[in-house]
Amino acid sequence: MSWMHHLLYLIIASFGFIFVQLLRLKFSPRGAVWAKLDAVGATPGDCLPSFARDVLSSIVLTRKFANEGYRKFNKALDRPYALPTPWVRGSSVMVLPPSQIPLLARLDKTGDSEWTNLRGLVETTQLPYIIDDANIYQNVLHFDIVRQKMAHRDMSRLAPVTADEIDHSFRDIWGTDVEWRTINGWEACGRIISRAAQRILIGLPLSRDETMLETSRHYANSLLVGGAIINCFPPSIRWLVAPLIAVRARYFQARYVKMLLPLVQERISQWEAGKDGGPDDFLQWMIAICARDPEQLNATRIALRLASLLTPLIFAICYVFAHCVLGIHGSADRADILAGLEEECARVSAQHGGLATSASTDALRRVDSVLRESMRVSDVSVTNIFRDVVAGEVDVGHGLRVGPGVRMVFPTQDIHLDPDNYVDPERFDAFRFSRSFENGDRRGGEQEFITTATPSFMPFGYGRHVCPGRWFAAQSMKQTLAYLVLNYDVELVGPPSKRKALLNMMVPPVDTQIRIRQKV
Ligand code: HEM
Repeated sequence: MSWMHHLLYLIIASFGFIFVQLLRLKFSPRGAVWAKLDAVGATPGDCLPSFARDVLSSIVLTRKFANEGYRKFNKALDRPYALPTPWVRGSSVMVLPPSQIPLLARLDKTGDSEWTNLRGLVETTQLPYIIDDANIYQNVLHFDIVRQKMAHRDMSRLAPVTADEIDHSFRDIWGTDVEWRTINGWEACGRIISRAAQRILIGLPLSRDETMLETSRHYANSLLVGGAIINCFPPSIRWLVAPLIAVRARYFQARYVKMLLPLVQERISQWEAGKDGGPDDFLQWMIAICARDPEQLNATRIALRLASLLTPLIFAICYVFAHCVLGIHGSADRADILAGLEEECARVSAQHGGLATSASTDALRRVDSVLRESMRVSDVSVTNIFRDVVAGEVDVGHGLRVGPGVRMVFPTQDIHLDPDNYVDPERFDAFRFSRSFENGDRRGGEQEFITTATPSFMPFGYGRHVCPGRWFAAQSMKQTLAYLVLNYDVELVGPPSKRKALLNMMVPPVDTQIRIRQKV
């Protein structure tokens, strides 16, 4: 049989599976709570053809459905609604209204109920298809290390290290040529970010190994993209397609772990030999914690934990940073924004003798504002901050009690673009957050920095599980942007690209080209 026949049978089988899944979605019994909810998009009560159409279109129309639900139910009635996410957890998620944001401050486990944020994190990237050792994502002790070692108080120690790495990487990667050259904007930003991140993860000299850097970037990207693609398939056929889609991420993961293992083994040996000190990097912090449990002091497991941090450290920071750079250069106010940033960076650098301390980075109020504004208008996803009830029931108001099997999320993108929260919300207004605080003016209260999570600014989450890596992300992005503004001219090649949603994710502009040259 030719490969064409195999392909044909595979396509027919896939459609068959999808049809069966649609029937299952439409006719399977659902928890009582869903019956009490308003819904947008596909609802099981629709006739089969329109149900099938809405389910399939939700792959690209999640954003439209979410906008509608936010307007009609979250805002107008202050009620949760059901958003179809056909292939994810029970076929819909419950989108809570902004009035329920205070729930995020609650303990995960209370006397009568328990919820978790981990299931949502694991399913977004479909980790079980990519990481064989479930301990990595079920026992997230590396999250504790982020909380303990990358807190606000640690930033003054890490600032000179990342500043040094950013200087080296710009000179190595963006170069010192004063003639224009065209490069891919997403990659150009990602390569700088991944070097700063690797420096903190594993230290010199391995952190500058070009193959290692490329592998870590490809792993972080392929994990996210692979997870998004796997999530487009019905769960009933994932066992068939996911292993194929995951091949790329697994390949880069295996390469990364292989390259890292000798260093991890060497550090473990030094630790066991009782050598004090050691470098001040994530690997060393992790060995100190893992040494308390013989099961965890395993070189492969430690390497896999480091690999699993590449998604926030490289993909998430690169996502935000690249959007900010492209946002500035795609803005109608580009010249004013650049002039304002350059004036501030030069002034603060002169006052502090450079930008290698956290005191100097903290003083960059406009740089902070432009990054915060970019995060506000360029969310990573349509909805975010997942909570799954695992025991008991959580009261979400209006007589609704949510039990196990239901995923709750918040309409973060709609909140960030709500005219009740921000004046002219669709506009990228770079100095929105710093303008009233120029010249030491404090009459409007305190400036809200990138790291300040509020009910109207939640790209880092909010409440008990707010991102503990945000101090590092903010500081390194500010240093990188300041360096770029002071040292390079940048222009977009072609018009700014329009962002599209794939299921819940906002697809980044990975093909945008930019022209760069070093300033003379
Ligand atoms: C710009 C970059 C980043 C963004 C946009 C981001 C965003 C987020 C969001 C939305 C959450 C979920 C919060 C919740 O459920 O309430 C989260 C959690 C988390 N992030 Fe980040 N993050 C970033 C960078 C980082 C970095 C650099 C690290 C560490 C190296 C990190 C480590 C974590 C951890 C460990 C959690 C889980 C916290 C918990 O379960 O309590 N993140 N992040």
